[in-house]
Amino acid sequence: MQRLYVIPIFVVALSFYAKPSSGCDLPPNLWCSSKETARNCQVEKQCEAFVWSVRAKPVQFALYYESLCPDCQIFFRNQLWPTFQKISSILNITLVPYGNAQQEAVGDHWKFTCQHGPNECLGNVIETCAIHLLKKQETFMPFLACIEMNTTVLPNESAPDCARQHGIEYDDIRKCSMSGLGNSLEHAMAEMTNKLSPPHTYVPYVTLSGVHTEKIQDAAMENLLKLVCDTYQGPPPEPCKQKTLTQKCFRKEYFNNVILNDPKL
Ligand SMILES: *[C@@H]1O[C@H](CO)[C@@H](O)[C@H](O)[C@H]1NC(C)=O
Ligand SMILES: *[C@@H]1O[C@H](CO)[C@@H](O)[C@H](O)[C@H]1NC(C)=O
Ligand SMILES: *[C@@H]1O[C@H](CO)[C@@H](O)[C@H](O)[C@H]1NC(C)=O
Repeated sequence: MQRLYVIPIFVVALSFYAKPSSGCDLPPNLWCSSKETARNCQVEKQCEAFVWSVRAKPVQFALYYESLCPDCQIFFRNQLWPTFQKISSILNITLVPYGNAQQEAVGDHWKFTCQHGPNECLGNVIETCAIHLLKKQETFMPFLACIEMNTTVLPNESAPDCARQHGIEYDDIRKCSMSGLGNSLEHAMAEMTNKLSPPHTYVPYVTLSGVHTEKIQDAAMENLLKLVCDTYQGPPPEPCKQKTLTQKCFRKEYFNNVILNDPKL
């Protein structure tokens, strides 16, 4: 007799347990639209095998900067370069070395005036030529990061050494930086920067998937790795799975135990 009502209770309990949570009241074609929906609809494995791994595009990230700006150098050192080293496979980086410079047409070329003087303009055009000549981010990123992370000498002085370190032919870059080609490439960087919407009012200035908001800017400055990992639609690469990604500036338990219990505060 007892089994007769144990079974209905079991079935009710099972159906309750198996019921998709509220996030899954979507048509099936949207179940793989985000990791959260897939989890709610219990189709994570299927999305990973048949959808995400096939169509996931790298995250489009652009940095608008200028070669001698200290905050840009800090961003390269603390965020962009470490993130690139960990997850370049899911990143498509656009670098635009121009920043707060000004341009003026003089005869058949462009005259640039840079916030940190002529050495910054020279650094910008060296980096612009490197991006143009080296083409692939796997090649130009290590070179540019090497230049930007060296704050003891000017970009034109670290560049030859950085090229040597990374097996890059520097002479072509140097020639480009002094030529009409370099001048027109830098003009293109100026145009990209001037077209920004909203217009940039500071550097470093970032866009994610072509979009700039204060929230994206702050997230990139604070933890670019986390921002890119959170944006990527495909299966997360190993560095995106590490717990440290969610760490905050201070630990909650530290805050509660030490700060709240400190009689002086
Ligand atoms: C990377 O970004 C550039 C534009 O900056 C674009 O032309 C290219 O198609 C992108 N590549 C991928 C794989 O998304
Ligand atoms: C770099 O530029 C500075 C000043 O603009 C100049 O004095 C120096 O000779 C240059 N160095 C190289 C290696 O070209
Ligand atoms: C910066 O570049 C100069 C010249 O290439 C080099 O001597 C120096 O060691 C570099 N400094 C750092 C911190 O990389």
